[in-house]
Amino acid sequence: MCGIVGYIGYEQAGPFLLDGLEKLEYRGYDSAGVCLNNGSELVVKKAKGKLEVLKKMTENGSTLSGTVGIGHTRWATHGEPSDVNAHPHLSESGRFAVVHNGIIENYQQLKEYLTAKGIEFRSMTDTEVIAQLIEYYYKGNLIDTVIKVLGKLEGSYALGVISKENPDEIIAVRKESPLIIGLGENENFIASDVTAILSKTRTIYRLENNEIAILNRDGVKIINTDKDEVIKQTETVEWDVSAAEKGGYEHFMFKEIMEQPKAIRDTISPRINNGRVILDEIKLTPEEIKQFNRINIIACGSAYHVGVVAKYIFEKMLRIPVEADLASEFRYRDPIINDKVLTIVISQSGETADTKEAMKEAQRRGSHVISIVNVVGSAIAIESDDVIYTWAGPETSVATTKAYSTQLAVIYLIALYFGDILGTIVSDEYSALVEKLEQLPDKVTEILDNKEKIQYLASKYFNSKDIFFIGRNIDYALSLEGSLKLKEISYIHSEAYAAGELKHGTISLIEQGTPVIALVTHEELIGKIVSNIEEVKTRGAEVMCIACDDHPEIANIAQTVFIPKVCDMLLPSLAVVPLQLFAYYVASLKGCDIDKPRNLAKSVTVE
Ligand code: F6R
Repeated sequence: MCGIVGYIGYEQAGPFLLDGLEKLEYRGYDSAGVCLNNGSELVVKKAKGKLEVLKKMTENGSTLSGTVGIGHTRWATHGEPSDVNAHPHLSESGRFAVVHNGIIENYQQLKEYLTAKGIEFRSMTDTEVIAQLIEYYYKGNLIDTVIKVLGKLEGSYALGVISKENPDEIIAVRKESPLIIGLGENENFIASDVTAILSKTRTIYRLENNEIAILNRDGVKIINTDKDEVIKQTETVEWDVSAAEKGGYEHFMFKEIMEQPKAIRDTISPRINNGRVILDEIKLTPEEIKQFNRINIIACGSAYHVGVVAKYIFEKMLRIPVEADLASEFRYRDPIINDKVLTIVISQSGETADTKEAMKEAQRRGSHVISIVNVVGSAIAIESDDVIYTWAGPETSVATTKAYSTQLAVIYLIALYFGDILGTIVSDEYSALVEKLEQLPDKVTEILDNKEKIQYLASKYFNSKDIFFIGRNIDYALSLEGSLKLKEISYIHSEAYAAGELKHGTISLIEQGTPVIALVTHEELIGKIVSNIEEVKTRGAEVMCIACDDHPEIANIAQTVFIPKVCDMLLPSLAVVPLQLFAYYVASLKGCDIDKPRNLAKSVTVE
């Protein structure tokens, strides 16, 4: 979704703004722009399309003069992607400029009100009303005006505001959309996330809802909407700068696939001590854990697919009913949730609007929420009752890989921790599972070391029109992820089907040469899925299997990628890797923009 960056200091702001916007590209966008105060006026440069266009227009920011400025990458919501709808937006006289992430829900009423007062709008965006309102209410004090305008806005926003009148100030505000403040030496920054400013500083404030930051060259003051000063602790960002860069790989996605063994190890290791799973993050007592009669998992996209895997694992290992819910459905269906239901919320960014609102809905109904989040200090992490961080490091590719794998790792930890308390996992089984869990990163490495076969299979199928994924039980949950990964980055139509369900309709789509990827790892149902493979082969499908290396006979049925055999609970972490690689290689062969697939955003902060 949209990205914001801002600079105030003594250096030329343009090159930094362009660089910061480049770091935010991964969030997804369709236009980009900057506005600088050049000492006498606000100058805006903006353009539809890739950042490259803006870079050329401004020679990487070097032709822009001024030491204070704001920049933005826009992911269109109100109004098509175009030069005029791109941010920053100026007020009518050009005295105020605004960048905005989020949605102003009552913008239409505000626009009508201002239009009736004779103010002319240039764009179709909701954001422009903010710039126009600031000018309309401005009586000489920008802070007072911004506070007044905030009182008129409904919806979510992170805002950066500069003005011609106040050349030594950036005002930044946050409500429901992420925004951080970076603190430097004689220079300060705003950004949607730390990657944009890591090259300059690691010391940050995370703005919370309704906090207003006033940035000057020499300091930052944070106030609330009553103008009381808010004293905040600074945070030091531990992320390695190189972790947020490609490090010699062609794409972030590939780099992040390759980082999975480390990411899984970083997530698991600190939580295993002497063969026991320690989850200090969960503040529930064993008695409270025993009171739950259902687990409710809420997430979107790939994080939801982790939830579907978790449903199979928890039900089998904890003998407790589990529902995995799409956040966007959960929040509007009057869900039956109370204090006997434990809610687990899964989100890489911790800012996904639907997931966050669904979490609040569950909390309102009395449910205790444990979140599994990657971005430290994000809204979901802060607002959930307990947070278990995945230590995947920054994930830049829009298509998630290492975040998915670390979320799965946390699911295993929770299964073991709860299973021990509930007495559903006996001690021998517990010890064996913990031991295997610790070996998991090495098993993932084994698969990554043998990726050539997957590359070869991708070269056979990259021209396909449709590709189907089938599986049963956890393999079905995984096929959902395999199919999403493929379609989002390669634009090949794909569907995932529970293998037993195929013949109830979708099998009619199978014709001569249709590729079908069959997951054949779930020991108990191998016979069943083999029958389903025969059904599609008979109708002309070209099948590729993912199977465990203790079943070499699967290679007689179809071309097969083998993964090391581990216990059922941990297999998803291995089986997903060939699926990620397959999607990656197919998209690469098709020449797709892998890290920034069309229409997609990394952090979906609108519902
Ligand atoms: C797919 C993908 C998305 C996200 C989804 C949720 O590769 O990355 O489907 O999983 O948008 O995002 P988070 O986890 O940030 O809540």
